[in-house]
Amino acid sequence: MNMNNDSVWRIKVVPNAPLLVEGKVELTLADGTTQMAENPHLCRCGASKNKPFCDGSHAKIGFKD
Ligand code: FES
Repeated sequence: MNMNNDSVWRIKVVPNAPLLVEGKVELTLADGTTQMAENPHLCRCGASKNKPFCDGSHAKIGFKD
């Protein structure tokens, strides 16, 4: 996927929560495969069982940033 210079992608950093990406994005996973995702919530606590996506585990482990 190529991002043209007019595109603005937004990522919100929310306290004690995942990264909230706004828009449709192509993710390249650790195994090299790609996957399209719309408005994904990306884990930043490290506890998700479904990385790179948030699965709500941050709340269970009491993630604080
Ligand atoms: S941020 Fe939600 S599981 Fe990691």
